[in-house]
Amino acid sequence: MELPSPRIHKMGLIKIAIVLLFIEASFALPLHYNAIDKCWRKNPNWAQDRKKLATCAKGFGARAKGGKLGDIYTVTRDDDNPVNPAPGSLRYAVSRHRPLWITFARDMYITLHMPLFLTSHKTLDGRGANVHIAGMSCLRVWNVTHVIIHGLIIHDCKESTPGNVLISTTKGVEKIYPQDGDAISIQSAKQVWIDHNTLSHCDDGLIDVTLGSNKITISNNWFFNHNEAMLLGNSDEDQADKNMMITVAFNRFGPGLMQRMPRIRKGYAHVANNFYNPWGIYAIGGSSDPTILSEGNVFVGPNDYTKKQVTEHKGCDGSLCVWRSLNDEFLQGAYFEQSGLDKPLPMPMYKLHESFRVLKTRIVPLVTKEAGALTCIPHVQC
Ligand SMILES: *[C@@H]1O[C@H](CO)[C@@H](O)[C@H](O)[C@H]1NC(C)=O
Repeated sequence: MELPSPRIHKMGLIKIAIVLLFIEASFALPLHYNAIDKCWRKNPNWAQDRKKLATCAKGFGARAKGGKLGDIYTVTRDDDNPVNPAPGSLRYAVSRHRPLWITFARDMYITLHMPLFLTSHKTLDGRGANVHIAGMSCLRVWNVTHVIIHGLIIHDCKESTPGNVLISTTKGVEKIYPQDGDAISIQSAKQVWIDHNTLSHCDDGLIDVTLGSNKITISNNWFFNHNEAMLLGNSDEDQADKNMMITVAFNRFGPGLMQRMPRIRKGYAHVANNFYNPWGIYAIGGSSDPTILSEGNVFVGPNDYTKKQVTEHKGCDGSLCVWRSLNDEFLQGAYFEQSGLDKPLPMPMYKLHESFRVLKTRIVPLVTKEAGALTCIPHVQC
């Protein structure tokens, strides 16, 4: 009997290794893309098909069209005139009374002298350029519908002084009160999707959703170096937020955040598949009887043993607030104090096109690794 030659044996091993590598690669690749990203990031020709993005959102803001029905507008200049913006500037684009899909010609550092008011049916699409909005005022999504904000790097937003601003070409110039210094402030707005933005270090919130806003998805963003990350619902007295429905999914929180990831009043939040670096005070908080489903998140607790609780129930009667944790993963001693355990699990009432598969927590570090603004190159998968 002849033994198999060592050479054949070696070839066999190489073949097995190649097959294993192939299997590994084919499994590993799709794992990087969550339900939203896989809709567009696999396409190397994303730059020729930018509006495809408008079909990719999931969650309560899934129907936000942005500027899908309009022309592509390219921002070519980085200066800002709040009252009489020049054609080619960002403010000129967002104040037009027609749908626009707004892109950026090159890397830009835009310093807004007054808050930037977005009108309805606008997409800000930062893909393909490094677009910073920083140093002074930032974005306001006020009393509008169908807004998509994607791929911007927004930081160091400051409180603004009172002054005149072009609100829209139909409303004209108005004198506005001082603003808080939020990165993105969403007020009385519906159908809004905030995706893949990098948000840090502002005077007030990074994203605030208030005054009867509804149908919002906040996904794939990276929040870091900031105190109060996200406020949903602005006062215990205001009834306008009681029907608010918000999806917070696939975001990366931290490092360097203290609290409000998010903090919610009234309304309903589906907080799913987010990755939480250690926080300073708490991660998810609320008052005024909000309903929260925390599902498939990874919570890494801080070292301070007094701050390991994910949740902060602020004056919220445990029997009224239904705060439930489903398939979350808790690391470094993090724990979630549930309430409303006598009530059914508050599953999100998604319509068909809004619903998405919540992933196992094992995959969450991977699908949130590229949260924040992506570096996208034309003709290459993003
Ligand atoms: C909000 O928008 C609606 C319709 O677009 C308008 O009628 C209303 O006056 C606006 N509200 C404010 C406070 O400007």
